[in-house]
Amino acid sequence: MITRTSIDKIFEAARVEEVIGEFVQLKKAGSNFKGLSPFSEEKTPSFMVSPVKQIWKDFSSGKGGNVVSFLMEHEHYTYPEALRWLAKKYNIEIEETVPDESEKEMLDLRESMYVVTDYASKYFQRVLFEEEEGRNIGLSYFQERGYREETIKKFNLGYALDSWDAFTTKAEKDGYQIDYLEKTGLTIVKENKKFDRFKGRVIFPIHSMSGRVLGFGGRILDSTLKAAKYLNSPSSEIYDKSKILYGIYYAKQSIAKEDRCYLVEGYTDVISLHQAGVTNVVASSGTALTPEQIRLIKRLTTNITVLFDGDAAGLRAAIRGVDLILEQNMQVKVLAFPDGEDPDSFSKKVSSDELKDYLEKEAKDFIRFKIDVLLPETEKDPMKKAALVRDIIQSIALIPDRIQQEIYVKECAALLDVSEKVLFSNLAQQIVKISKEKLKVNREELPDMQVVTTEQKTLEKIDQLEKYEKEIIRILLLYGNQKTDFINWVEEKGPLGKTYIKKELYENVVAEEIYLNLQEDEIEFTNPFFIKIYNEILTHYTEYDNIDIHLLSQHKDVDISSFTSDILMNEENENLSDWERKNIFVKEKELMIPKLVNDVILNLRRVLIDQKIKKIAETMQSDKSEALPDKNEMMEEVVNYTGLRKLLYEKLNRVV
Ligand code: CTP
Ligand code: MN
Repeated sequence: MITRTSIDKIFEAARVEEVIGEFVQLKKAGSNFKGLSPFSEEKTPSFMVSPVKQIWKDFSSGKGGNVVSFLMEHEHYTYPEALRWLAKKYNIEIEETVPDESEKEMLDLRESMYVVTDYASKYFQRVLFEEEEGRNIGLSYFQERGYREETIKKFNLGYALDSWDAFTTKAEKDGYQIDYLEKTGLTIVKENKKFDRFKGRVIFPIHSMSGRVLGFGGRILDSTLKAAKYLNSPSSEIYDKSKILYGIYYAKQSIAKEDRCYLVEGYTDVISLHQAGVTNVVASSGTALTPEQIRLIKRLTTNITVLFDGDAAGLRAAIRGVDLILEQNMQVKVLAFPDGEDPDSFSKKVSSDELKDYLEKEAKDFIRFKIDVLLPETEKDPMKKAALVRDIIQSIALIPDRIQQEIYVKECAALLDVSEKVLFSNLAQQIVKISKEKLKVNREELPDMQVVTTEQKTLEKIDQLEKYEKEIIRILLLYGNQKTDFINWVEEKGPLGKTYIKKELYENVVAEEIYLNLQEDEIEFTNPFFIKIYNEILTHYTEYDNIDIHLLSQHKDVDISSFTSDILMNEENENLSDWERKNIFVKEKELMIPKLVNDVILNLRRVLIDQKIKKIAETMQSDKSEALPDKNEMMEEVVNYTGLRKLLYEKLNRVV
């Protein structure tokens, strides 16, 4: 773990405008910088960076945050990866808390293995370009396959000499320990003899999402030899082929930008498509796609197009793989190449524009595709057709989105010539079956569920309650420290015995006023993220006697820092657009604060009461027993709540 002090040092040194400037062309605009959004295709700049506040905001995609969250969004780094990148840029030495012995051993081991794979990758590249055998055999092979030099260099392709131990000998001479050479699978040790795993093969290094070399694939050159076409690094502490996708490091940015990922089978498919200008492509390396691999893509997009060879085997393999993707709530399209072609060969036959055109036009919705392929086989065979219908419904049942399911069912009914009613009831059965199975699985692998919670970050679809919860947080962040006059309405009896309502003013700090009001009504937030940030703000307030929004916008929790800087930037933008009357504007806002606080709390109460009333009404309706005393009690409750609601509405409409 990186220590808190190191994290603070990194944040102190890092300048958001400098870091972003490395990736986006920024122009000065007042006290801010502006540029074209790196997250979408746009012509007028809507990407803003504030050097004063050390935050950024992209108005076209809605993203925003601090310097770390930029690296996480743009480079798809994890939090520690982003910190390490910054530390390197600003020459800060990172201190780490001492991990316990076994943790440390594992970390050291992995680091040492990365050092070795990195060395090997560079070694194979050097051999390819600089040694005679490398040039004559390896390089000319790649050239024959039509790879340009820039492509070969980009993918760090290499060559392993046709010798039993050329690599191992050189590596040991250069000071690399045999232990790590063996652990990474580069060297095979047998009875004190050492052999190179890769020999006489061209080399494809396999990179992690952040660009570290995890392992290698080596392709044989002479197809008459009986050895396997590809030899891959064995599984190790750093390489697990089921958890990585070939090409993800080179594709991540364009996958996010295009909001689509093409999935192919092999190394050469990835490279050829890249060379033809299609860069949002990764390969599963010949195996069935795993959930871990899908999650890797899901960090970047929810749209996948599976590309596969036109032959029958390719077809069936693709159909099998796709159910897994559907299950992860991704939108899947499939695309078949003409018989006998794969992405590699096809991309060399046509121009780059034709290829892109083909990818766009020929991609078919998966379920549609499945029907198109399988329906003809069922002609005049009702048994086969029934099986197909069940099969299709099984796929649809895997889609977590209910609305999407319904659309599919309707379309399939028409395509398969079966009534919607039958399909829907079949679907219901399937769904019950799947959720029962899920229940079983989920109990066994709880950690996986965390994937779901991170998605709560997207706060687009917020219900009524959450809307007001968010507003409270916003007020706390922007005005929490301000002292202002609040209004209290008190009923008083006049001298003649008539009651009237009197207005009383009292001074309070906004944060305290909000806190006390929520306490009084025992109101608790529902949205887990707002609960978290509310607690964080309160802790801040009690600790420093002050809510420092700028401090919070640099918070180590990326969710909190992004949310906070988002609010800051929106505020900034609002003020900017009103710059002419800025002074008046700010004044007006300050006067509005008591009403803002008042309204949001009353509204929150109103929604809570509405929910209570609705709940009671529902229980009354579903309760078929005629237990009168209960019903009367419930009715009474409803009446009480309705009265309360009326009061709230009155208060809300009262002019201050
Ligand atoms: N593969 C493998 N081991 C093999 C064969 C294949 O690991 N013996 C994996 C490789 O990752 C390969 C992918 O499966 O890239 C697809 O296999 P294939 O289509 O046979 O290879 P291509 O990558 O298309 O290579 P080429 O174009 O050179 O035939
Ligand atoms: Mn192939």
